[in-house]
Amino acid sequence: MGTDAQLQMKIDAAAEALKEVQSGMTLGLGTGSTAREFVRLLGEKIATGELASIRALCTSVETERQAAGCGVEILEPKHLPEIALAVDGADEIDPELRLVKGLGGALLREKIVEQASARFVVIADETKLVDRLGRGVLPVEVTRFAMPLLEERFRRMGIDPKLRAKNGEPFTTDEQHLILDVRLPAGRDMADFVDELVRFAGVVDTGFFPFEATEAIVATPAGPRRLRRGEASRSGFRHPS
Ligand code: A5P
Repeated sequence: MGTDAQLQMKIDAAAEALKEVQSGMTLGLGTGSTAREFVRLLGEKIATGELASIRALCTSVETERQAAGCGVEILEPKHLPEIALAVDGADEIDPELRLVKGLGGALLREKIVEQASARFVVIADETKLVDRLGRGVLPVEVTRFAMPLLEERFRRMGIDPKLRAKNGEPFTTDEQHLILDVRLPAGRDMADFVDELVRFAGVVDTGFFPFEATEAIVATPAGPRRLRRGEASRSGFRHPS
């Protein structure tokens, strides 16, 4: 599939999600190339006056800059419980709407924002759909102090840890941590695997998002598809409203 076609699908998914936004809403804004298209289209609606008084919690400094430039009011973390709708991309989406995220390095703030939000709509092109999570790497956010130990442990576990780098330097997250990208061993379930990883002190979080998404808008050449999963599987995880 050509890059232009994939970009058009990201734009289509973002445009479909924008239909859910109303003036005065408090949003959670994601990070990555698909979320960037959503913020860009949001900015266009604000510029034409079709949408007004949009406030947002952003999942990265990069998105904060883009959204502020689009006329969105940027909120402090104390407003996290007020988010009505979060919109963000994903790297892998399975049939239960379980996700792998974090190739853009914003997984921790993304998970915080998306767990806080009353609804989290994932936007993606159809290449992100998988039968089983683990096609690509699983990002694991770790503290700087623990990184050498965790890298050695993960190597002994045979999960091929790779320290994420950018411009020849270790990549630092917005929360000042590092990322070890690891591989799910063949035949293992992602949830079991993550349970094992998060027991190690120094693992802050992983890019596995088991219950956060309430729905997905997946763009295909034939148009956007909306995928939902029952509220029941997510009960107990929302902030009290
Ligand atoms: C950012 O940390 C990620 O979780 C992104 O949401 C994810 O990598 C999807 O990015 P793209 O929209 O660029 O594919």
